[in-house]
Amino acid sequence: MTPVVDGRPLRIALLGCGIVGSEVVRLLHDSAADLTARIGAPLELAGIAVRRPQRVRDLPVDPGLFTADAAGLVERDDVDIVVEVIGGIEPARALVLSALRRGRGVVTANKALLASDGATLYQAARSFGADLYFEASVAGAIPLLRPLRESLAGDRISRVLGIVNGTTNFVLTRMDETGAGFDEALDEATALGYAEADPSADIDGFDAAAKAAILAGIAFHTRIQVDQVHREGIADVTAADVASAAAMGCTVKLLAIAERSETDRSVGVRVHPAMIPRSHPLAGVREAFNAVFVEGAASGELMFYGRGAGGAPTAAAVMGDVVAVARNLLSGARGAGESAYADLRVRPMGETVTRYHVSLDVADKAGVLANVASVFAAHDVSIRVVRQEGHGDDATLVIVTHAATDAALAATVAALRDLDIVRAVASVMRVEGQDR
Ligand code: HSE
Repeated sequence: MTPVVDGRPLRIALLGCGIVGSEVVRLLHDSAADLTARIGAPLELAGIAVRRPQRVRDLPVDPGLFTADAAGLVERDDVDIVVEVIGGIEPARALVLSALRRGRGVVTANKALLASDGATLYQAARSFGADLYFEASVAGAIPLLRPLRESLAGDRISRVLGIVNGTTNFVLTRMDETGAGFDEALDEATALGYAEADPSADIDGFDAAAKAAILAGIAFHTRIQVDQVHREGIADVTAADVASAAAMGCTVKLLAIAERSETDRSVGVRVHPAMIPRSHPLAGVREAFNAVFVEGAASGELMFYGRGAGGAPTAAAVMGDVVAVARNLLSGARGAGESAYADLRVRPMGETVTRYHVSLDVADKAGVLANVASVFAAHDVSIRVVRQEGHGDDATLVIVTHAATDAALAATVAALRDLDIVRAVASVMRVEGQDR
């Protein structure tokens, strides 16, 4: 790559000026002198693509920079770096590809795009000698992708386990701390501005699944697309589940988990609610915060914690990438590209080894426990804990298993539903973060 001429400003095309884009504009303005000193050349906005350029915005920037012509802005010869904070697949995908094909460095916060079509973007970056950075796409301000990609590149990662969605963590925190039901907790999250008007991307786990795909791809040097991530959201988590978790010394979290298996060179990637012990470091991650636990063969356990969403925290991650790309442009270097050499098999959820917490409504009479236990035994699932609470002639039977494949556990639950003595399977939830 030919270095850009020393001293001239590096020019940025900003695509999108919403919550994150506005903060990028502010940081560029407020930290201009420091950024120049850190990079060795000033950064300058070449233009800002928005849907309504005439809208009055309270930003420290020349209003003449706003344009509705995002494609035209990307094509301009005086642009060095393209920052994409529009989100969604199109037009972001076409704009990012156009920028990469022109050899422009690209910084994007777009998790949906990376998780669904990252391979195409990486390929374009490689073919046209361009940088592609996306730290802000996962867990906002928390430095996570660069540590995985660079600081830990000498280690073998075995597991990535995290809370990567702030909205759902806020809802589950409220349910845990106040006993609120899901709807009530979601209403509070919406009133406080955490949840979107349509919160399904968060609540149903799509947002976390995209982040899990990106994290797993980098951690395990394997291409992973979002549709390979097993996904369950939190809409079915009840106050009774949360109370049952509390009775076991656990709390419920929406976890993103990516695990490598050494035995068959595979990786499993999943997002689902799970009970974790209150003693686990992730249990103390409250409200809208994110945290990711990484286990490396040599480095051991690492935890990354901080604000995973919001304008300023996400813009901070974007600006870190802008500085990296700018430095590369000045030195004629390029950042790390895709590393997918390991090409591990992505295993289906049924093969994943996990543990279940099962709560059953049963009749309180002789033989019930033995019958229930025999169903577990028939599926080769070992029981770890049994707890019973009587209510007159009925009882709630809570069973926690030892580790087994998800397929065996799911088949056990299906067989329990068919038992006459089981009035209802009140809840089924996986248990994580305990020794197996
Ligand atoms: N909606 C996400 C969250 C933030 O609640 O964490 C953006 O990824």
